[in-house]
Amino acid sequence: MAHPSFVMYETDTLVCDAEPRKVPLTDYTHDLDAMLERVDARTRLFFVCNPNNPTGTYVTRAEIERVMDRLPDSCLLVLDEAYYEYVDAPDYPQSLDYVREGRRLIVLRTFSKIYALAGLRVGYGMARPDIVQALHQVRPPFNVNSLAQVAAQASLADPEQVTRSREVNRQGRDTLTRELERRGMRAVPTQANFIYIDTARDARRLGEELLCRGVIVRVGDWIFGDPTFIRVTIGTPEQNERFIEALDKAIREIPPYEEPLAKAS
Ligand SMILES: Cc1ncc(COP(=O)(O)O)c(C=O)c1O
Repeated sequence: MAHPSFVMYETDTLVCDAEPRKVPLTDYTHDLDAMLERVDARTRLFFVCNPNNPTGTYVTRAEIERVMDRLPDSCLLVLDEAYYEYVDAPDYPQSLDYVREGRRLIVLRTFSKIYALAGLRVGYGMARPDIVQALHQVRPPFNVNSLAQVAAQASLADPEQVTRSREVNRQGRDTLTRELERRGMRAVPTQANFIYIDTARDARRLGEELLCRGVIVRVGDWIFGDPTFIRVTIGTPEQNERFIEALDKAIREIPPYEEPLAKAS
């Protein structure tokens, strides 16, 4: 798995009494070659979070195909596409094609993000039948609850909602990126519904200042190992405006570092 990436890969690996191998991102993106180098005969799962949480970066079709070609048969590619519906990069992989071709992978998606049903706990995986069969042997017998299933079906019947949310997100992404750049902060280019931002400051203090103003962000220090970064969710125009207002007040309290922290350490 990459680092930083979605923390549950590591947690779930540890719960299985297995060894997480965390490979640092390069330029905020999965370093797939370095990850492939860490694969050996004991490696069972190869996680790719695409787009990556927390950085919002993505890996391309060509890169994913290279991974599939090079992974040994003993290792399953887990493609986590929780933010799939937000992506507009033309070279993003259409991973269902790989499932249909019978390639060795599982694609994970969810109703928690663009469909806004996180509280109902409904998501799904797609893989060829023998992989699904293996999952059935170990998964708990209790299924996704019936209310969640009804809500998921209703969501699928309303594609307009996805189009609308994607558009709100795209506009918010552009606005926030522009506003952050005007304030001298680097926003990592994102394909998801959040932005990873180098604030060039003590992000923990900044996070606390924002919290006092009613805005909760994820601070990059302890989980992600990036002490000047915050991750903020892209919201509606009103929410984005509120974030920028709170940010302006918060940064007045916290001076920027003169040198980027990464260089100093
Ligand atoms: C990359 C990624 N995968 C999966 C999830 C969890 O999705 P779900 O709510 O369907 O468990 C998240 C949520 O934070 C996520 O960021």
